[in-house]
Amino acid sequence: AHRPSAEGDEDFDEAIAALPSKPPTPLMRRMRLYHGGWFPEKWLPYIMAFQRRFEARREEGDVIVASLPKCGTTWLKALAFATAARGTYPPPPPPPAVDVGGDDGGDRRRLHPLLRLNPHDCVPFLESIYSSKEDEAKLAATPSPRLLSTHLPYSVLPASITGNPNCKIIYVCRQPKDMLISFWHFVNRDKSRDVPLSYVWESVRECTYFGSPVWDHIIGYWNASKARPCNVLVLRYEDMKRDPARNVERIAEFIGQPFSEAEREAGVVSRIVELCSFETMKALGTRMAGSSQRVVSSEFPNDSFFRKGAIGDWVNHVTPDMAESLDKLLSERFDGSDFTF
Ligand code: A3P
Repeated sequence: AHRPSAEGDEDFDEAIAALPSKPPTPLMRRMRLYHGGWFPEKWLPYIMAFQRRFEARREEGDVIVASLPKCGTTWLKALAFATAARGTYPPPPPPPAVDVGGDDGGDRRRLHPLLRLNPHDCVPFLESIYSSKEDEAKLAATPSPRLLSTHLPYSVLPASITGNPNCKIIYVCRQPKDMLISFWHFVNRDKSRDVPLSYVWESVRECTYFGSPVWDHIIGYWNASKARPCNVLVLRYEDMKRDPARNVERIAEFIGQPFSEAEREAGVVSRIVELCSFETMKALGTRMAGSSQRVVSSEFPNDSFFRKGAIGDWVNHVTPDMAESLDKLLSERFDGSDFTF
């Protein structure tokens, strides 16, 4: 299911080989530049397949969660799913039943999907879907409203999304220093790897972070949110941590399902916040159905998506000089944009 060019499929090999490339580093395999973004070469057949074949629903639209890796994607997926699907799956009263329905008892089917599944199973990555013919067929058969996700920059999204007034994109960004520390821990969860922090830290400058340049990734969605505020919403991990309820309200309004006063009074917003909180999700981590998540061709254990969930953890890992040099680079790159962290 994960062949780069399945039988009867377009053969992307030649087109990929012609793209500008960067040699492998201890952090990333060979990367190539495609539509303004740097991606691991092995992902490109799926990225191209998504870009060429994905058809957003014209009338009903689709909701797409977008982000750079390690910026709070999993959390936003949980919040968006819990909010959008609250009619079918009402969020349970607190404390969410993390002890119910473990492997040894309870009827797991009655649990809210987020109490038994990884949020990545509720909101799949488009680039992963296009690595499997079976998943691609499932996507076409999924009834609207579809909730999907991507790590790709705005410039790579197909026109069927960016040109569709009924598609909604929710983008989450995060202070890059915390994103990098999160990524460093994430890659080194794989015990066969021991990537030095310096490679991860330099990946922003060197454009070896997935979807680089990081500044263009953020500015691309930021500018789109200003040009098309009804279609693109930019959230920040730090704001979500400080005031999750306010951000759940923003998500609900943006997708056209605002909370009623009765829902608010019944505590639906705070139930969603509780259900998706770091503490709840981390406690559930290893008990989520299936042992791991396949993101394109790599497997990650379910609990690897829930580490610390804090703001400013970078201070525990890097020197002031490292922080300052990254800050300086980013302030230069964001110069001319009105985006600020
Ligand atoms: P840390 O490694 O800093 O803890 P992504 O989902 O984009 O891969 O991002 C992962 C980061 O989001 C990790 O950051 C992870 O712990 C954090 N995270 C995951 N679920 C969260 C939640 N429910 N609330 C807050 N942060 C969460």
